[in-house]
Amino acid sequence: MGILWLIATLLLVHSCSPGVCMHHGIVGGKVSIPHSRAYMVYIRDSETKTACGGVLVREDFVMTAAHCNNNHLMVYLGVSDTDHLPQGVAVHPIPHPKFKNKPGHDIMLLKLKTPATLNKTVKTIALPETENAEISKNCLVMGWGWQNYDKESPSRVLKEVNVTLIDSKNCGSADLICTEESNGPSLGDSGGPLVCGDFAQGIVSYYINESHNIYRSMYTHIAHYLPWIHHAMKTPTQQPNETWKGKLDKLI
Ligand SMILES: *[C@@H]1O[C@H](CO)[C@@H](O)[C@H](O)[C@H]1NC(C)=O
Ligand SMILES: *[C@@H]1O[C@H](CO)[C@@H](O)[C@H](O)[C@H]1NC(C)=O
Ligand SMILES: *[C@@H]1O[C@H](CO)[C@@H](O)[C@H](O)[C@H]1NC(C)=O
Ligand SMILES: *[C@@H]1O[C@H](CO)[C@@H](O)[C@H](O)[C@H]1NC(C)=O
Repeated sequence: MGILWLIATLLLVHSCSPGVCMHHGIVGGKVSIPHSRAYMVYIRDSETKTACGGVLVREDFVMTAAHCNNNHLMVYLGVSDTDHLPQGVAVHPIPHPKFKNKPGHDIMLLKLKTPATLNKTVKTIALPETENAEISKNCLVMGWGWQNYDKESPSRVLKEVNVTLIDSKNCGSADLICTEESNGPSLGDSGGPLVCGDFAQGIVSYYINESHNIYRSMYTHIAHYLPWIHHAMKTPTQQPNETWKGKLDKLI
């Protein structure tokens, strides 16, 4: 029962049928000032129309949840209203190798086939610098997901809500950070960021219905994945070139 329930709620993704595409926003909180969260990225599968959130972490990389992986993902930068999407950018998905379609290691990088040009409405967000740096408890989570946990309540525009981190010892795993509130991310908010201070510290993964009106939202703890992130984001130009590698091989 517990496991089934977790799996059911892990997939905070949101789909819509062709033509009738319902979009929704965070439970509680308010509509974000248009383009004030310029790092926020709208992600959608061009075939299934499943949608997720994500953040631009470098001109050529978006970070999101691994359970948002799909065959025809497109990312949309600088979006406020999903009824007015700019041209999408195709991506190459790099899910965490240990992600197994259940809670845990729910993190994925998307390499943009055309790097973004940063401007007033398209910006990057900083990642934590070290694994154990202290995290501000006052955080903001945002997305285009449902505005009600058990009822569809559409909003085409980006929404955000303040949440407070609880002691990470209570989150069940050091790979997670969590909040416990009556408000927070719901279906469709997956992959979106938990921003604490000026850093993206968490990725919306799943929630647990604790009791009436109390939901524990679970976020992938980004700082715990820094080595993997840095490795995955190494572009070929940053690696020693073939000539050099070839020479080294011969020396050995
Ligand atoms: C910023 O970039 C986005 C995505 O490339 C584009 O849709 C938007 O028009 C640009 N905005 C400005 C002010 O140039
Ligand atoms: C979050 O808290 C800040 C500081 O208290 C406040 O200015 C802001 O309006 C709040 N945001 C939301 C979405 O409630
Ligand atoms: C969460 O659980 C409460 C009872 O504990 C129930 O009333 C409510 O409908 C549940 N919400 C969802 C979204 O399942
Ligand atoms: C890459 O190869 C070129 C010559 O082919 C060489 O001049 C350059 O120093 C090499 N770069 C690195 C980082 O080894």
